[in-house]
Amino acid sequence: MRRKTVLVTGGAGFIGGHLVERLLQNYRVVVLDNLSTGKMTNLPDHPHLDFIFGDVSQEADILTIFENYQFSYVYHLAAVASVAASIEEPLVTHQTNMDGTIHILNAAKEQASTLQKFVFASSAAVYGSEPTLPKHETSAIAPITPYGIDKYAAESYVLAYSRLFGLKSSAARFFNVYGPRQNPQSPYSGVLSILTDCINRKIMGNEASFQLYGDGSQVRDFVYVEDIVAGLILLAESEESQAEVFNIASGERHSLLEVIAMYELIAGEKLSLTQREERAGDIHQSYADITKIEKIGYRTSHTLKMGLRKYHEYSSKAYV
Ligand SMILES: NC(=O)c1ccc[n+]([C@@H]2O[C@H](COP(=O)([O-])OP(=O)(O)OC[C@H]3O[C@@H](n4cnc5c(N)ncnc54)[C@H](O)[C@@H]3O)[C@@H](O)[C@H]2O)c1
Repeated sequence: MRRKTVLVTGGAGFIGGHLVERLLQNYRVVVLDNLSTGKMTNLPDHPHLDFIFGDVSQEADILTIFENYQFSYVYHLAAVASVAASIEEPLVTHQTNMDGTIHILNAAKEQASTLQKFVFASSAAVYGSEPTLPKHETSAIAPITPYGIDKYAAESYVLAYSRLFGLKSSAARFFNVYGPRQNPQSPYSGVLSILTDCINRKIMGNEASFQLYGDGSQVRDFVYVEDIVAGLILLAESEESQAEVFNIASGERHSLLEVIAMYELIAGEKLSLTQREERAGDIHQSYADITKIEKIGYRTSHTLKMGLRKYHEYSSKAYV
């Protein structure tokens, strides 16, 4: 049977690479990525994968792709994914995170009659520091960074294109995602990738100190990357997710100090911590109510302990 074709923007990134790997089991996959943070090594060598080097903020790049392919699903993940980078360079971030989304939506709406779903990667950052917890999809929206503002504007555009042009869509607000291949090299990387890097450097006998911003009492909902992938595919395939926004998270909450202690136990290694000032734009507590996505069939398959074990197993092999 002929495979349906799926577009994954940002497919060479951390989450994108995992999504592509999974989609290749059933689909022909086209990845559009400018490799600004993504890497070709995040993608498998596969006969049903086409990689296109291009920029979502360049309309011409998008139009060419939509002229050449008829898509059954679009997963739009390409973004400047760092809150801190968005504070340093709001305009550059905006060109990718906002303008880029509109370019993709404009092209996708021309295929609205055959496109089965447009799925957008939004973020828990849209909730900002408004104190009500846990965060439900109907909680107050109060983004406090350029990243969060653009994510909220972009998800609103996605849902508006459903109402205005009949584009079938869903938006997913990811909480803190972690897992294999998350890049620890930038100071803006996810905290668990930096922790993993520190632990592995210590295991190899090197000096490594973990920079703790604030006192470690910040609470987060860490979700294993395979659960994010399962959630994204569910949103793409479900009829009930049409023109709706969903949290994707684990539903567990842990302080950073708890996570560090759990990871030290799993790895059998004690970390030295260097305390730093809390960073501008950091939200003290963020965790999700996931009942909305659970109602359409989502189940997390990794507790934090299971996810950390898998991540540690993978990354300690990658370091040898
Ligand atoms: N990792 C998380 O915890 C998290 C949480 C909430 C939301 N998200 C969202 O999930 C998506 C994927 O994040 P990630 O963690 O995999 O980050 P990532 O940086 O690994 O992936 C982003 C990908 O987009 C590509 N990209 C960036 N700008 C582009 C442009 N102008 N044109 C084409 N490609 C471009 C990058 O090269 C990279 O491959 C992003 O939209 C991010 O905002 C991530």
